Amino acid sequence: MADRYDTEEHAISSPAALAPALGFLTELAGEGRALEFAIGTGRVGVPLRRRGVPVTGIELSEHMAAVLRRKVDEETLPVVIGDMATTVVPGEFSLVYLVYNTISNLLTQDEQVECFRNAARHLGPGGRFVIELGVPPLRFLPPGQVAVPFDVSEDHLGFDTVDVVEQTLVSHHFTRDGGEGPYRRGHSRHRYVWPAELDLMARIAGLDLERRVGDWDGSSFTGDSVKHVSVWRKPV
Ligand SMILES: C[S@@+](CC[C@H](N)C(=O)[O-])C[C@H]1O[C@@H](n2cnc3c(N)ncnc32)[C@H](O)[C@@H]1O
Repeated sequence: MADRYDTEEHAISSPAALAPALGFLTELAGEGRALEFAIGTGRVGVPLRRRGVPVTGIELSEHMAAVLRRKVDEETLPVVIGDMATTVVPGEFSLVYLVYNTISNLLTQDEQVECFRNAARHLGPGGRFVIELGVPPLRFLPPGQVAVPFDVSEDHLGFDTVDVVEQTLVSHHFTRDGGEGPYRRGHSRHRYVWPAELDLMARIAGLDLERRVGDWDGSSFTGDSVKHVSVWRKPV
């Protein structure tokens, strides 16, 4: 997956697609340092570093971090291999951020709370924790329907199967290249979580909600939003 990640995520990796997120994060980092939880191949962290923001990453997968390392050296962008819910890196940060739905990769409420606590642990006074996350797709799941499609395109068929009792979902992907050949099958497991539950996790970690928008461009978060970008702040 690591070797294919940048190619498969090219639609959200171009400079134009990343510009709003990079602007948002650069402004929040201010003169301070940024810590990316689950930095992956550096899709966001590497261009943020190139904008002049000192970035450190935490990443569980050595394979994903190895792809990042082909783009930038350790001195320029240090990465610690570990679990973002528990791994502690040296120093104080003005910004911790966790994008592209990755809080949901933590499959229990306890782990997600620990992730908030770990973010708060790394922030200086007034520092911010930012999460980008999809709104759980339950409005698209009428009784009797078992799956919610989220992409039906030439090279990718994607759908979620949802367990509303466990508050988990599995994202299924069938992917091929260039509109031909066999599909590769992949899946990922998630614990979906509502904005209000995230706000409670933030309060447990000593953070206050500062802002919630519908996307990186600052558009309003509404009842029809399919995702949100939320900012919690550590009191000064
Ligand atoms: C969807 S990718 C996002 C990568 C990158 N942040 C981006 O926006 O492209 C999810 C990443 O989270 C990492 N990950 C999953 N669980 C993690 C955990 N508990 N701690 C640290 N990284 C984790 C995966 O290895 C993967 O690199």
